[in-house]
Amino acid sequence: MLFSAKLINWYQKNQRNFPWRETKNPYFIWLSEIILQQTKTEQGLPYYIRFIEKYPTITDLANADEMSILKLWQGLGYYSRARNLHYSAKYIVNELHSVFPKNYKELLKLKGVGDYTASAVASICYNEKTAVVDGNVYRVLARYFDMDIAINSGKGIKDFKLLAQELLPKSNYGLYNQAIMDFGATVCTPKRTKCTTCIFNDSCLALQKKKIHVLPVKIRKIKIKKRYFNYFVFLDKSNNTLINIRLGKGIWQNLYEFPLYESTKEIFEIDESLFPKNIIKKNILSVDLFNEKIIQHKLSHQHIFTKFWLVKLDVNLVGSIPFYKIEEYPISTLVHNFYTTFIKLI
Ligand code: ADE
Repeated sequence: MLFSAKLINWYQKNQRNFPWRETKNPYFIWLSEIILQQTKTEQGLPYYIRFIEKYPTITDLANADEMSILKLWQGLGYYSRARNLHYSAKYIVNELHSVFPKNYKELLKLKGVGDYTASAVASICYNEKTAVVDGNVYRVLARYFDMDIAINSGKGIKDFKLLAQELLPKSNYGLYNQAIMDFGATVCTPKRTKCTTCIFNDSCLALQKKKIHVLPVKIRKIKIKKRYFNYFVFLDKSNNTLINIRLGKGIWQNLYEFPLYESTKEIFEIDESLFPKNIIKKNILSVDLFNEKIIQHKLSHQHIFTKFWLVKLDVNLVGSIPFYKIEEYPISTLVHNFYTTFIKLI
């Protein structure tokens, strides 16, 4: 039996049930595929449900304010996905008169949509003949065909896409694409693979050559950067605090955070001149390090080492908010974790 026929056969018996599998509405499929990038299905599922509940149509999403979208996205990471989602929703509603792009080429024009998402939406919604290549597909193909070219090299990306495209069945492209992704997510997994019961265990080259755990190959392109964050948690006379929106390119754009001083290495005491201008020295009651042990927050390309410095004041601060109101703003998981610990103490 053909590779694709075997996979489809397997999928028809073993597919997982997800709400986005019960629709061909391109808005829902697009939303689910953006959520599921870099995110496991079990983690993405509750977010998908909350998004379609709050924004049941693309017009609802387009009309939403970015802060509410980021708040709903909170905890998923890679926040540019949420900002691009909003940008593209507005583009579709305003420029395309709410008509969702109908093929791979048009889908690619949307901000935040690359080859993977365009292929997924085009094949699932319109049965266009275009292969998806996500992390699951790389793993399945690298192992089955013993492909040891790096999956994140220019040539690797091209070769895998070509191979994936050649393997497509004669019809049912969307079904097949989902089959291979599900197979990678549940059988041909990164660790603890299910090779003993796998439908391909008589023909998988990596299994024959004992290379399951060395494939796929990835080159580490960038060095992980270490960053040192010092957050100033001001508490004024009324237990109010200061937060700012994080501007500029880079992580957590448009999320909220305490006033931040980023240092080049760990620091052990705080110079009060680092505080915002409206903090007058004579009003400072105390400055204390809240977390004795530096907090390590790992992102894909950077490790952030954080200290929260508690600064008590004997006045009421202009522009401050009640501490508990922080929860109403979109914040990073790093700030959220601090918030949940600290709120119990004040
Ligand atoms: N991961 C991301 N999108 C998926 C899909 N449509 N099916 C299976 N796994 C996926």
